[in-house]
Amino acid sequence: MAGAFKRKRWREEQRVRVDLNGMMAHLIGEQGIADAELDELLPRLGEVHAALDKQRRAGSLPFSELPYEKTALKQTLALADEVRGRFDDLVVLGIGGSALGTRALYAALKPPGHATAPISGDDLRLHIADTIDPRWFGGLLERLDLRRTLFNVISRSGDTAETMSQFLIVRDLLLKELGAVDYTQHIVVTTNAAEGTLRQIVNDEGFRDLPVPPNVCGRFSVLTPVGLFPAACAGIDVVELLAGAADMDERCRDGDPRSNPALLQAATLYLARERRGRDIVVMMPYAEGLAAFADWFCELWAESLGKAVDVDGQAIHSGQTPVRAVGPTDQHSQLQLYVEGPADKVVVFIRSEEHGEDLTVPKSYEDLESVSYLGGTTLGALVDMEQQGTEIALAQAGRMTATITCPRLNPFVLGELIYLFEMETAVMGGLLGVNAFDQPGVEEVKQLTYGLAGRPGYEAKRAEVQRWVARKEARYVL
Ligand code: PA5
Repeated sequence: MAGAFKRKRWREEQRVRVDLNGMMAHLIGEQGIADAELDELLPRLGEVHAALDKQRRAGSLPFSELPYEKTALKQTLALADEVRGRFDDLVVLGIGGSALGTRALYAALKPPGHATAPISGDDLRLHIADTIDPRWFGGLLERLDLRRTLFNVISRSGDTAETMSQFLIVRDLLLKELGAVDYTQHIVVTTNAAEGTLRQIVNDEGFRDLPVPPNVCGRFSVLTPVGLFPAACAGIDVVELLAGAADMDERCRDGDPRSNPALLQAATLYLARERRGRDIVVMMPYAEGLAAFADWFCELWAESLGKAVDVDGQAIHSGQTPVRAVGPTDQHSQLQLYVEGPADKVVVFIRSEEHGEDLTVPKSYEDLESVSYLGGTTLGALVDMEQQGTEIALAQAGRMTATITCPRLNPFVLGELIYLFEMETAVMGGLLGVNAFDQPGVEEVKQLTYGLAGRPGYEAKRAEVQRWVARKEARYVL
């Protein structure tokens, strides 16, 4: 009983806080959202929440089930246990939603430079190979000791050209280096449990594999084996990650928008776009470790909400362009535009109250006031002051901001953040009236690539490219 009480207290202490004052008129003036505008949206918000709830009960909101999914978790942990200690490096071969979540977790929860540091204990170093730039990928392969390297091929569709070409290169290399008996031990495949080319290959060659649950699209898949397996291999506590997501899920089930962080933040972002023309969302963490989280968010927001048509098939061309910035660094590059340029952005800050092992600026040059004031300040405190200064400068200019405060960065908190933004994306999709879970624009490019690369069945796509190229005029090529 005492243990359960302590755990509850601990969980409460880990909760992230979402401060939306910077979106509102009472703080930033008439460019902000008036209380009445928000009140007016509440019934619609209630409908969206009820619709999502209905979808969830019907089993058609699969990402919301992930914090509680035990079978895949057990399988993932068992496999991670098996490979930890046997390998030094794990290379993720995957792209988009098959890679960005893992990178976000690794960057936030492992020390900087972990991927190149000497091995200590059983934690594997991670390398997220979400590029087919031959210099980058070839360089990585050259540096690795293949005998101590595990490759995790991740593709939900099991077809993506970038991932499949990496897989074929790696398989060939492993076969040459390790021989036909041992090489399979160096590959784990994470893919659709029932269909796709990779699934067929797994079945034929007997690689170890993990499932991507049906209908969970890539950008919502970090809490499936897609993100959980590499994270667990690196020694990240994925059980805590899921517990954090479940805790946020509880908060996001609240039918009252005034106490539901996903509903209220989505509502303000929606009003910012619809009523104030804020077409850009800048995700600006004040922690280097969250820079990759901002990249993950950018995919989630862009791919889920950027849609040509609404759910009824009417042209809509919806979306808000997500941009990554990192504080305080980008105060010295992008911020000038945000404060004084077009009023078309919302800046979302993420800050952590703890900064890890902090550094104190020594007291020196006491007779030089312009530098001695820094003496005794910690770098963490300075980061906080910079963030506050930025928030106020933006507010004074009538620019919208939202601030998410994390008590610290740990797996539980990352789970909260991930789930918060996933649910917020689903709510925003509901408000905009679009399907947040498909990506026809991405699929079109995949098909054009298949056509160009000569994949049988995609001849029409190849012809489309050729027609397009033929329309280009020499006079515009300089
Ligand atoms: O969110 C998505 O669905 C996409 O970004 C995919 O993750 C990306 O295109 C990779 O697809 P796949 O995992 O099928 O290889």
